[in-house]
Amino acid sequence: MSELRPETRAVHLPRPPLNGSVPITTPIYQTSGFVFDDPAVFADGMGRPDGAFVYGRLTNPTVRTLEEAVSGLEGGVGALATSSGMAAINTVLLALVGQGDHVIAQRALYGGTATMLTELRERFGVSVTYVPEDDPEAVRAAVRPETRLLYLETIANPMTQVADLPAMCAAATEAGVTTVVDNTFASPVLCRPIEHGADIVIHSTTKYLSGHTDVVGGVAVFASEETYRKVWRFSVDLGPTPDPFAAWLTLRGIQTLHLRMERHCDNARLLATRLAAHPAVAAVHWPGLASHPSHETATRLLPAFGGVFAFDLTGGRAAGERFMSALKLALLAPSLGGVETLILHPATTSHRALSAGELARHGIGEGTVRVAAGIEHPEDLWADFEQALRTS
Ligand SMILES: Cc1ncc(COP(=O)(O)O)c(C=O)c1O
Repeated sequence: MSELRPETRAVHLPRPPLNGSVPITTPIYQTSGFVFDDPAVFADGMGRPDGAFVYGRLTNPTVRTLEEAVSGLEGGVGALATSSGMAAINTVLLALVGQGDHVIAQRALYGGTATMLTELRERFGVSVTYVPEDDPEAVRAAVRPETRLLYLETIANPMTQVADLPAMCAAATEAGVTTVVDNTFASPVLCRPIEHGADIVIHSTTKYLSGHTDVVGGVAVFASEETYRKVWRFSVDLGPTPDPFAAWLTLRGIQTLHLRMERHCDNARLLATRLAAHPAVAAVHWPGLASHPSHETATRLLPAFGGVFAFDLTGGRAAGERFMSALKLALLAPSLGGVETLILHPATTSHRALSAGELARHGIGEGTVRVAAGIEHPEDLWADFEQALRTS
């Protein structure tokens, strides 16, 4: 070929050879596709998750590193990273549940998941039976020939009920039903649901896995190769892929997950136990307290009780609003699992789609405040809570 003109040279930039050097951290592969010498390798990569990297919607080396990292932490055979936690949940639901199928789900569910199950029912005729998170007999009684999934959360949002995973997964497995567990609140540091019989584990990586309130993402981890390949094939055309930069931020967060989880759990313990003894507080909902209905299950299954809790003030909703406005260090903001302590009012934010009856069924009061403990010094946090309690 003749000497290339500047316009062409500007388009076809050089690709530096690495000459055998391996970067310490996985780079951000900010490319939508890959170049091939061999058309057969290109074609093969389109059809399976473990072929050559082809196109960003299928996967990408940075995204794949995240998938392998989380799969390794959870003890899976493969994982699918997505652009949000809800994208992971919906990809799994849409890949595995069809018209006329039946899903069994625990009663206390994240608001977005509950809304999507209602959508599936109303638009695609998928029936849903809700059961308590610790009642395997209710699962056995609910199973029908068309039951496809049992859907659980290790620690539920926001009242922190803990699912009896071994008993619930066993009841589903006996009936040939796939169990999906949202493990966002526990993280693989506190629980690895596949070890208790789960088939699929989901995370909103927006929370503890990324840990710095700077990225939205999700992941589904699979215990079986067959299910992994089935959901991967479906996802290729659904398109829930994350951006490589989001995957990279999440990978960076994962490196400190164990250290952060320890502090989140310790800070939650200090705040929850001191609040439980405070005269302005009517109830504290944290599975580490003997008063919590899941305390026995949590003690059996978890090495620590998580960084999130909820509480009610004796002064009800008005007192809760005064308390939230008076906090100076803890931030009134959505989400959880980041380094900053965040608080919110579930009835009007995360669980706003629930009716008054459904809120009551979840145990969420009109004045319930949810706290996601960060990693600040615990005494600074308590000083902030104490001054805010004086206003309520
Ligand atoms: C338990 C749980 N699962 C899933 C989600 C949804 O995740 P995302 O906001 O990343 O879509 C959330 C969000 O708060 C959550 O708390």
